[in-house]
Amino acid sequence: MKESSHERTAIAFQRFHLAERLSRVRVAGGRRRCPRRPRAPLLHRHRPDRRTRSDGFDLLADNIAIAEYRATYLPQTQFDPISVLSALAAVTSRIGLIGTGSTTYSKPWELARRFATLDHLSGGRAGWNIVTTVTPLAAAAFGEAAHPGHADRYARAHEFVDVVTRAWDSWEDDAVVGDRENGVWADRGKLHAPRFHGQYYDAEGVLPFPRSPQGHPVLVQAGQSSAGVGLAARYAELVFSGPPSLAAAAAFRADLHAQVTAAGRDPAQVLVLPALMVTLGGTEAEAQARARRLEELMSPEFRWQNALYTAGPRRFRPGCSTARRALGRAAGPVKSRRAAVRGRAGAGRFRTEYAGQTLRDHLGLQRPAVRASQARS
Ligand SMILES: Cc1cc2nc3c(=O)[nH]c(=O)nc-3n(C[C@H](O)[C@H](O)[C@H](O)COP(=O)(O)O)c2cc1C
Repeated sequence: MKESSHERTAIAFQRFHLAERLSRVRVAGGRRRCPRRPRAPLLHRHRPDRRTRSDGFDLLADNIAIAEYRATYLPQTQFDPISVLSALAAVTSRIGLIGTGSTTYSKPWELARRFATLDHLSGGRAGWNIVTTVTPLAAAAFGEAAHPGHADRYARAHEFVDVVTRAWDSWEDDAVVGDRENGVWADRGKLHAPRFHGQYYDAEGVLPFPRSPQGHPVLVQAGQSSAGVGLAARYAELVFSGPPSLAAAAAFRADLHAQVTAAGRDPAQVLVLPALMVTLGGTEAEAQARARRLEELMSPEFRWQNALYTAGPRRFRPGCSTARRALGRAAGPVKSRRAAVRGRAGAGRFRTEYAGQTLRDHLGLQRPAVRASQARS
């Protein structure tokens, strides 16, 4: 595929932000690859700060996939993200901690409290991956009669995110005065309950603790449909994409940024992270051979069951050639992630140090002020 010089420029001058999903997306499904016992949390596997501090990895995501057939083939470790990330927060100091939270199967004020808590516990490293939840299986798990349709889920999501951010703004930054002489801990004049009454949600009441270090945990979104991009344009600061080609990736970003501008926001404050699945090797041929071997290890049953489960009009393709090619050009064939980052880090494409303490610092995102209308309320 031919690229325009504009695309080449974008790749040459932008630094990569690398994120890693905690859940396993490599679908080997081969018997020999299955551990005997379920592996308990990811703490031992990720050795948090040792690898991540210098390698520039700064985001971890997780989700709540619940298709039963997968348990036959893949170890299932989809623990509650906030619990896992809170545990990770205690043993790390820099890495960003992004958890998935469903707008269809949560209550907004409660979700706001949980993510703001994570932001406090981690010293400002929390992010919320806003999902509307694709799988209809979730409805039964949550005791709902039916899984809402796509348009309905996104309509709710807009209101949901609005409530969440209002709850995060319920304390002004300087509300805590700690005035010992007068026995005043916080200035109640700087607390502003959301008082939200919408079509889908009602929420009143301030959060039961001060504003979190980042003001708002970083808002992340991965919807690929036009409704998904619309939600991202309105709220997201980091957008995952799964484009099938370099041209599609560029078009996705251009469309998103045009909608961000139309929504009155700054596109420079909305980063795009295309998904990629990396197969490592010392040479291109070695990596290709390894990728083929992994494909062969996948059981045929798993292959068709997975195809049935994931088939749909806009199937998410994790083996994204766009990002793989972009990353490949930047790093060349590599034997390890460390080599990928260190080996050609001189080319300036990968960061080798964190820019600051918070996830917003790492990503170059501004800290949001308490919205004026809320501060006046
Ligand atoms: C890179 C990437 C990561 C995603 N991670 C999650 C996740 O952790 N949890 C989840 O429920 N959905 C996840 N999704 C699915 C999206 O939230 C979304 O439902 C999907 O892309 C379909 O988009 P649409 O609902 O706008 O059609 C992810 C999608 C992509 C492309």
